[in-house]
Amino acid sequence: MFAVKGAILAIQTFLKSEGRAKIMKNGWDNYWTKYPTIPRKDNRQKRLTRLFERYAKSGMVVCDAGCGSGLSGCAFLSMHCKVYCIDYSEEAIELAKKTTHNKAEYVVGNLLDNDFVLNFQNCFDLISTDGLLEHFNHFEQIQLINNLKGMLKSGGLMITVVPNLLSHWHPIRRAFLKIPGVREKAFTVKKLISLVKQSDMEIIETGGIHVVPFDRSPEMLARFIGSSVFVVSQRV
Ligand SMILES: C[S@@+](CC[C@H](N)C(=O)[O-])C[C@H]1O[C@@H](n2cnc3c(N)ncnc32)[C@H](O)[C@@H]1O
Repeated sequence: MFAVKGAILAIQTFLKSEGRAKIMKNGWDNYWTKYPTIPRKDNRQKRLTRLFERYAKSGMVVCDAGCGSGLSGCAFLSMHCKVYCIDYSEEAIELAKKTTHNKAEYVVGNLLDNDFVLNFQNCFDLISTDGLLEHFNHFEQIQLINNLKGMLKSGGLMITVVPNLLSHWHPIRRAFLKIPGVREKAFTVKKLISLVKQSDMEIIETGGIHVVPFDRSPEMLARFIGSSVFVVSQRV
């Protein structure tokens, strides 16, 4: 009796999460259809590029995972890396092609799908995600990081960037920047570190990124009040 109830519950949970995943993919497709323009490189993006420059070297094979508009991919191309832009939204990939002037490799695929990520086992020197992890529940986040870890070469680097729960931007984003069908749960740097550590990645650097529209900003405070927090980790 208990076994039957358990099986029914598992099937219900599975169907629910499948349904939610479909709704979220539709949300992203609609978003990129509605905003198909190449985003401009703002001060946040410039700071993010400076973070990438500390780790990306010419000739590295880099994955912009959940590439969206392809801005991060574009930054890695400027560092003479070989770049793969991966996203499950065809519309995002079309925009990423424009942003990166067709100079990267483009792949439509679901990074939560174990069969899909098997195509890229031990492929990358560096994987970066900006704005991906916060859209999943805890179990999916762990699965996603494990999948990305499997795509890294031994010694490869992972840069994960997510919105900062403690930033004054957080309530503004929540109120005005909602994408229908796409949920978002911001992180503290501590929570992000703990998540990445669960996949046995070695933490190399942690911090935050300001969004303020000035060239200079109090970098020391970014991990507390920056619009995003990040963790750089290594597959050992
Ligand atoms: C916030 S956007 C990324 C923005 C991007 N960093 C940029 O600069 O434009 C998140 C992206 O992740 C993609 N995404 C979400 N879940 C995914 C999954 N399971 N597999 C692949 N891509 C996914 C979405 O389609 C979306 O384009």
